[in-house]
Amino acid sequence: MVKHILILPGDGIGPEIMAEAVKALKIANEKYSLEVELEFDDLGGAAYDHYGVPLADETLARARAADAVLLGAVGGPKWDTIEPALRPERGLLKIRSQLELFGNLRPAILYPQLASASTLKPDVVSGLDILIVRELTGGIYFGQPRERRTLDNGERQAYDTLPYSESEIRRIAKVGFDMAMVRNRKLCSVDKANVLASSQLWREVVEEVARDYPEVELSHMYVDNCAMQLVRAPKQFDVIVTDNMFGDILSDQASMLTGSIGMLPSASLDRNNKGMYEPCHGSAPDIAGQGVANPLATILSVSMMLRYTFNQVQAADAIEKAVSLVLDQGLRTGDIMSDGCRRVGTAEMGDAVASALENL
Ligand code: NAI
Ligand code: MG
Repeated sequence: MVKHILILPGDGIGPEIMAEAVKALKIANEKYSLEVELEFDDLGGAAYDHYGVPLADETLARARAADAVLLGAVGGPKWDTIEPALRPERGLLKIRSQLELFGNLRPAILYPQLASASTLKPDVVSGLDILIVRELTGGIYFGQPRERRTLDNGERQAYDTLPYSESEIRRIAKVGFDMAMVRNRKLCSVDKANVLASSQLWREVVEEVARDYPEVELSHMYVDNCAMQLVRAPKQFDVIVTDNMFGDILSDQASMLTGSIGMLPSASLDRNNKGMYEPCHGSAPDIAGQGVANPLATILSVSMMLRYTFNQVQAADAIEKAVSLVLDQGLRTGDIMSDGCRRVGTAEMGDAVASALENL
């Protein structure tokens, strides 16, 4: 059956890294007879420039009709001065919420070849393989009311709202427990229940869901302690489940355990495992257009797409293997560069993965 994939390169380094992910996807398509058909459209700043909005209705319709979406990254100083509702990041938030992609899986795996690329001691991070499950369509990034206003005394004030409903918490908690069941049956729920009402409900509902998963060892941790523990002893974790903003921050932090944010893929799934796949990083305006960005996070996102949405385990494994082989060859983009390795650009890295995949 033909699988329709909508490709949204976005802006900044998005188009550069996406070109390399598409190379890998096309080879996997041939080699494993995946029957994928690719469609391309704009999101974020690229969409603002093209359509005047960061997510056009026709693009959203295409995303709904597709079997999966592959996204690069969006955002950048070029669009910093436009009105907030039209900023590139708004397009990203809108597509996530419109497609109800509430379950964001962010694996942080240290490739053994990159042990020296991490800023942490090898014994702290070696063998690291954790999964952060981030709630993606609720919480403070979406909460209403949000407002910026001028007080009577002339002072500017702004506020956001952090709401979570029981059903939102329950469905993401289930994703966390389900992931724990197919991994090491250990789940840490991260919140700020000592201060926030939304976190108190979070903890309560997670405890309720836990009753259906007696085999899973559940713990709770405050987010500030979790930030500390991730750096002190990250291997104590297996699956972490947390809210939208905490997950955003903790997964960037976890990325540095793996050497670079350029290594972290992600899957954002709805209740039917239909999904959008994207690297965890942003559009990296500081290096955009230079051909030096690491495309591996996006290539690994293709692997997650084949695994989670299309159940093509062999092709998904092959892409991961190809990435590992290229790291064995000593090829490194600047962000993961270390002594004795060969520095390559985005396209050379992508070509190397494509050829490793071809020759598997
Ligand atoms: P960022 O993730 O774009 O960059 C942070 C740092 O990591 C930069 O030094 C960058 O050069 C580096 N980096 C990121 N990806 C890399 C890669 N593949 N290879 C090598 N180095 C890489 O985060 P930042 O700078 O906070 O945000 C830049 C823009 O991206 C902002 O407009 C932000 O809103 C947007 N953003 C978009 C996201 C998305 O599209 N999913 C996620 C995060 C931020
Ligand atoms: Mg982020």
